Amino acid sequence: MDFLVAHFNLLRGLHILAVIAFMAGMLYLPRLFVYHTKATPGSQMDETFKVMERRLLRGIINPASIATAVFGLGLILADAQIRGWDFLLQPWMIAKLVALVGLYGFHGFLSASRKKFERGENVRSEKFWRMVNEIPFVLAIVIVMSVTTKYLNH
Ligand code: HEM
Repeated sequence: MDFLVAHFNLLRGLHILAVIAFMAGMLYLPRLFVYHTKATPGSQMDETFKVMERRLLRGIINPASIATAVFGLGLILADAQIRGWDFLLQPWMIAKLVALVGLYGFHGFLSASRKKFERGENVRSEKFWRMVNEIPFVLAIVIVMSVTTKYLNH
């Protein structure tokens, strides 16, 4: 744990870099679904979207979500050593954790939806995907602001 405390700022930087990759993918994948709904099943466009979606999820979103969580857990361990475990019950951390459950749940939903697109079983409309496209950014606002404004809560 001393090692994590000593490298707290490095961990924070790596956490933020992983978050950037994770969020880039989470914002882009539903956008691909918007355009995918317009492709005729079995067409070349349909197949191209399938490849783009699979690579985005497996190559970027999944690894970045794991890296975000690993560095985030490292920060929790370091924070616990510095301030004690009580910080997990502070309003900013509870707000962040609740929004995180939503974000990781949305990740699972996108992953399941990608498989449906791959099997040609998507039944959701272009409008639906345009609307849900806003969800990750709204959650990111809650997650980031809860951390950056935490000292106002003290
Ligand atoms: C399992 C996932 C996550 C865990 C366990 C986690 C945990 C943490 C912890 C403990 C900190 C340090 C807070 C402090 O300054 O004491 C932190 C910092 C931060 N987190 Fe996360 N986090 C996670 C995911 C995310 C996500 C998805 C985002 C953005 C959408 C995010 C954005 C940030 C930012 C911007 C900071 C730096 C804030 C600052 O330096 O003031 N985190 N995180």
